[in-house]
Amino acid sequence: MSGVIDTPPDRDLPGLVIETERLVLRRPVRADAEALADLANDAGVAENLASLPHPYGLDDALAFIDNAEVGPARWSLGLYLKDGTGGADFVGTASLMPRDGERFVLGYWIGRPFWDRGLATEGVQALCDFAFQSLDAGAIAAATRVTNGASRRVLEKSGFQYAGQGMGPSLFHRGMVPVDRFRLERSIWTSIKNWAKTGVGA
Ligand SMILES: CC(C)(COP(=O)(O)OP(=O)(O)OC[C@H]1O[C@@H](n2cnc3c(N)ncnc32)[C@H](O)[C@@H]1OP(=O)(O)O)[C@@H](O)C(=O)NCCC(=O)NCCS
Repeated sequence: MSGVIDTPPDRDLPGLVIETERLVLRRPVRADAEALADLANDAGVAENLASLPHPYGLDDALAFIDNAEVGPARWSLGLYLKDGTGGADFVGTASLMPRDGERFVLGYWIGRPFWDRGLATEGVQALCDFAFQSLDAGAIAAATRVTNGASRRVLEKSGFQYAGQGMGPSLFHRGMVPVDRFRLERSIWTSIKNWAKTGVGA
């Protein structure tokens, strides 16, 4: 269950903080640059994202942090592990981009040392809750490379449904690559929330 704050009408929330059981989602800051650069400089991360530069250096991290927006044109949040050794270790990022007023596009990545602990799923679900509860999203769209089984699983665990294949940009591959498209409709999200409340499917 995530805790989010109400969104003011201008949807501009530089101080937005979303908390889950293990994660804090908030605006990244310059102090995160080294950890961000270390984790992002990984071909296994870059090849699965549309526009992450590779190799990825400290300058890329600082540029990302300095340009990170927290609404209304884009919600770019860092993901931090609450019980990390540093108190709040940076583990990855997640973003929402409005596409056409009611639909948002979701993106995310987690650094390799933190894979397979359910952290992407926890962050994605919290951001989806935020989009439906606070941004009045009608639907959330996401695309994964057809080879990206882990990301597909994250989306399926979060209630997304397969919505067909297409081609998507890949900076890593300097062109377009085949992608699977997924959508989470508000009605599905509402049902999942209601089932959770009644204990059905828990
Ligand atoms: C995809 C990614 C975000 C997953 O992060 P994560 O924190 O490890 O994800 P979670 O632990 O929440 O869930 C991963 C699920 O995929 C499963 N999985 C892992 N590798 C898999 C694979 N090769 N094929 C299928 N499923 C796989 C895990 O077992 C887990 O499912 P389970 O809970 O049913 O066991 C992470 O690997 C990553 O950042 N990859 C590079 C960038 C990327 O792909 N971003 C998403 C772009 S669409």
